[in-house]
Amino acid sequence: MSSSTIASSVSYNQSLSGFNTFGVSSFAEQYFDLKEKKQLKALAEYLVSRSLLERSFILGGGSNVVLPQRLNQFVIHNQLKGIELIAEEEDYFLVRAAGGEVWHDFVAHCLERGWHGLENLALIPGTVGAAPVQNIGAYGKEIKDVCYEVEVFDFNSKAFLTFTNEQCHFAYRDSYFKHDGRGLLIVSVTFKLPRPWRAQLNYPDLQKLLETVEGANPEHVTAEQVFNQVCSVRRYKLPDPKEIGNAGSFFKNPIVSPEHHEQLVSTHADLPSYKQSDGRYKLAAAWLIDQCGWKGRDVGRAGVHHRQALVLVNRAGAVAEDIRQLAEAIQQDVYAKFNVCLEPEPIFVV
Ligand code: EPU
Repeated sequence: MSSSTIASSVSYNQSLSGFNTFGVSSFAEQYFDLKEKKQLKALAEYLVSRSLLERSFILGGGSNVVLPQRLNQFVIHNQLKGIELIAEEEDYFLVRAAGGEVWHDFVAHCLERGWHGLENLALIPGTVGAAPVQNIGAYGKEIKDVCYEVEVFDFNSKAFLTFTNEQCHFAYRDSYFKHDGRGLLIVSVTFKLPRPWRAQLNYPDLQKLLETVEGANPEHVTAEQVFNQVCSVRRYKLPDPKEIGNAGSFFKNPIVSPEHHEQLVSTHADLPSYKQSDGRYKLAAAWLIDQCGWKGRDVGRAGVHHRQALVLVNRAGAVAEDIRQLAEAIQQDVYAKFNVCLEPEPIFVV
């Protein structure tokens, strides 16, 4: 594959409104559909020869970005596909999925084949390649618990590199790739799924499953039950991006010092909080926002979802600026009332 083959596949002034879950209007100056791994080296040469590397942007499922109306960059849309079982040992499965696979479809695919362990992460929007970037998590499980390694293509060195779980520096909604991932494209992620599978039901929404099985014994809960329960809770609480544009939780749950926590509890006895292993406390951003009266409210064309205050939605025709204004108004109110800074989860692309 040569640079000229790449040139003939580049499109200009491409609409990205269908490629971001917020559904905001955004046009990319240049756009390339990455469908095969073998295109990567030629693409890197093309970008270097035209001095485009510095202003290239990798787009996955568009579920964790707020795109500007005009994106003056070269957009590489990761649509690499493929799922394979690469090892089946007595105590684990190793499953590799290409970065462009749709996350939820991959979870369902694994479940069907008996490769269990991803059920708690069902219905999270986005792609497999985007999952490690923000260490997606839900219902007590995070990518960091199941990620074996991440294969990336480095556009600068034109080489394929492998990151072990440790090298990914996973943390709460954070990883190496979120800060230092410029020029790195996630080609595939390999998951290590321990056998035998055990249901992870520590979250209250999943505890309910115990009521349905004999002797309330977690051993009797099946992976299908966990998957179905997670899907139904999420479908109830969170808006489907296909119907109402959104990017899931918009803010991270803030973590505060024990002193700050004590001070907040003295004025708000009902403050939900979760003690961390380092002694600090994680607060529920949704609760803080709700207390400021934001649930269901709109600012311009953006609003706060009526069932989950942590989700900002595109009411109709919102652009990045509408979302930014709403987010800033919420941050100001939460800061004024609780002295807590809320940090957005999605990245505002400029
Ligand atoms: N709450 C409110 N008002 C609301 C919603 C929730 O007061 O409108 C309070 C409730 O007291 C509740 C607490 O906030 O107990 C926490 O809410 P919830 O259990 O719904 O979870 P969350 O903290 O809002 C996190 C993740 C979600 C993940 C769920 C389930 C973050 C930022 N969000 O939400 O992740 O699905 O837990 O594990 O960590 C995402 O990142 O996009 C996402 C959806």
